[in-house]
Amino acid sequence: MKTKTSRQTTPQPSAARPFTYKDRTLHCDQVSLTSLAETHGTPLYVYSATQISERFQLFEQAFQDRPHTVCYAVKANSSLAILRLLGRQGAGFDIVSGGELERVRRAHKPALKKVVFSGVGKQAWEIDDALEANILQFNVESEQELDLLAQRAQALNRRARFALRVNPDVFAETHPYISTGLSEHKFGIDIKAARGLYRRAARSKWLEPYGVSVHIGSQIRKVAPFAAALARVTSLVSELCRDGHSIRAIDAGGGLGIDYSDAPFDAAHQVQLYAAALNKGLVGEQARLLLEPGRFLVAQAGALLTRVLVVKKNGSKTFVITDAAMNDLIRPALYHAHHEIVPVRQPIGKAAQITADIVGPVCESGDFFARDRAIAQVKPGDLVALLDAGAYGMTQSSNYNSRPRPAEILVEGDQATLIRRRETMRDLLAPEIL
Ligand code: LLP
Repeated sequence: MKTKTSRQTTPQPSAARPFTYKDRTLHCDQVSLTSLAETHGTPLYVYSATQISERFQLFEQAFQDRPHTVCYAVKANSSLAILRLLGRQGAGFDIVSGGELERVRRAHKPALKKVVFSGVGKQAWEIDDALEANILQFNVESEQELDLLAQRAQALNRRARFALRVNPDVFAETHPYISTGLSEHKFGIDIKAARGLYRRAARSKWLEPYGVSVHIGSQIRKVAPFAAALARVTSLVSELCRDGHSIRAIDAGGGLGIDYSDAPFDAAHQVQLYAAALNKGLVGEQARLLLEPGRFLVAQAGALLTRVLVVKKNGSKTFVITDAAMNDLIRPALYHAHHEIVPVRQPIGKAAQITADIVGPVCESGDFFARDRAIAQVKPGDLVALLDAGAYGMTQSSNYNSRPRPAEILVEGDQATLIRRRETMRDLLAPEIL
């Protein structure tokens, strides 16, 4: 069978992204991706600082009527430069490890007091480090963890502010790997058991019941489940207050999704809908609202820039093999996630398209970015960009196949800054001692 071809123009990527064609070349804000590839090589992650700030400000505006702190989820993109950018604008941070705590400390020390520490399996050394840093709140996910927290707080002679992360048993439609709010998941504490645990904890002089937290999953496109989860949390908070605890924070978690397709996407409107849903769930609540968005702030600000190495046919299929692979961006392989893929050089008028699998050089068939995708005809040496790669791209990268990880660029207007250099052979081998 012959490769399917059709004639179509390559449209501008959706306005929700900072990547647009200027003079037929894809740019991130004012910076040409061709010039970035020439200077820094590929694969290369490129992020727009402007978009990240804008997204953060959308949250700030949408929640301005109530006391709130946006605690950016570091796991989405933990680059020090991005943490610093957000920290300087007043963001707090949601962390899940001692490593992420260290990143916040290095990026913007004053933000340590606005850190919430999530995760189902915290270790004593991580708890100690966070207690010493005097973070805002530990989001505790089990009775055992509560005991460990009390023990470590006593050992360090510090009082630990905590929230129980409750599992509200609310269904949110998303990929099963990133759904967390049902009682069948490993996350949180059964909301029905929470009251008893707060009562128990309040007897310890080392534990301060400070908040209640919830997180129902990630890449959630409908806002109703957020309202449902918060309504359950709000009624728990009223019970806790009646029990004599002073609950000062409600942590609504993260999870607001984006549109990975090319459909029009109005980010400001999405945040407004989200805020309205949360406010509905929070009726009558005075406590400070903590929010933990990750993806929404950084995903669309970033792209993975890669060069085509080979275009080959096997039987009826065409394969476009790029110099980026699943070790650089694992989302398609892991979740069958869709990422738009666009040529950096905009084809003129109605250019030929092919239907191809876009894949990396890693030695397994799971190494794909797209299957049977219609894309502008490309040839070896051409550059393409995988869009919406700013979240869970670099942070989930690995050295699989002994591949050095990409460099990262932060663009601001017409300025491009190298924020992480490309790994070298020396970096790859450094930890090995035998
Ligand atoms: N808070 C907690 C407790 C979380 O577990 C997460 C994400 C967030 C906040 C941030 O969620 P976001 O606003 O980014 O949806 N690797 C997957 C996503 C995993 C999300 C894990 N937890 C992906 O590439 O889609």
